[in-house]
Amino acid sequence: MTLPSEAGRVVLVTGGATGIGAEIVAEFAGAGADVVVADLAEPGADAAKAEYVRVDITRDDDLRGLVEATVDRHSRIDALVNCAAMYKTLGGKRALEEIGLDDWDRVMRVNTRGTWQAMKAVLPAMSEHGGHIVNISSTTARNGSPGFAHYVASKAAVEGLTRAAARELGPRKITVNAVAPGLVDDEATRVLNDAAYVAAASGRRAIPRSMYPSDLVGAVRFLGGPGAGFITGQVLVVDGGGLFT
Ligand SMILES: NC(=O)c1ccc[n+]([C@@H]2O[C@H](COP(=O)([O-])OP(=O)(O)OC[C@H]3O[C@@H](n4cnc5c(N)ncnc54)[C@H](O)[C@@H]3O)[C@@H](O)[C@H]2O)c1
Repeated sequence: MTLPSEAGRVVLVTGGATGIGAEIVAEFAGAGADVVVADLAEPGADAAKAEYVRVDITRDDDLRGLVEATVDRHSRIDALVNCAAMYKTLGGKRALEEIGLDDWDRVMRVNTRGTWQAMKAVLPAMSEHGGHIVNISSTTARNGSPGFAHYVASKAAVEGLTRAAARELGPRKITVNAVAPGLVDDEATRVLNDAAYVAAASGRRAIPRSMYPSDLVGAVRFLGGPGAGFITGQVLVVDGGGLFT
């Protein structure tokens, strides 16, 4: 499907400085959107042209500043992509009884609570004309990948939050959906998994190859745009047919 131009649209991408988020930024910016990146990390030198605001998504005051600055500059926010999460920084696989309380709380605070906080923050800017929110979940929420119980739980909660928000925000013409990527062959994945694990995931797919960020950015852009205006509360699995839902 050829998606329409993003010219004139304003898109916020949390976690857009690195990894998958940076590819999502490049996808929207390449199609003409004004993209604002909200991240704790700074974008790399080769990042797509976009505005950058240093934001911790667990801090309401950071998010308020981000939304105010974006609305001051562009007068609207059309889409929010919630990509920021603790993934690369999980610190390795651990049995569930070995995950500490602090680690559990930190992952839930960033991945789940932060996603909810970012959604809340954009509502004033979307309530007048509507908008599109896309949360990044993970297929781990469905297949229960061992070694990351806190991360898996945080992403399952993001999917529940997506449905709750879709019900509440539909009357305000705001759609809320999630994209659940499979294991992406990227730097973050290679920090956490050995090559054999990544190869085995590829082999289980109906399309038996590695998955790259470029495989999922089209789905994010579609759900973040007006062409998906009557789709809400859904989780779109993008994993080359590893899971059929
Ligand atoms: N890589 C994969 O295989 C995979 C698979 C499924 C889902 N995902 C999800 O895709 C998204 C991106 O993953 P990635 O592989 O690029 O991971 P990553 O860990 O490389 O990137 C996460 C980004 O979020 C930012 N971030 C973390 N905490 C933040 C905070 N408190 N405030 C603002 N920004 C914060 C980081 O600085 C980083 O830029 C995440 O939501 C991840 O859970 C990844």
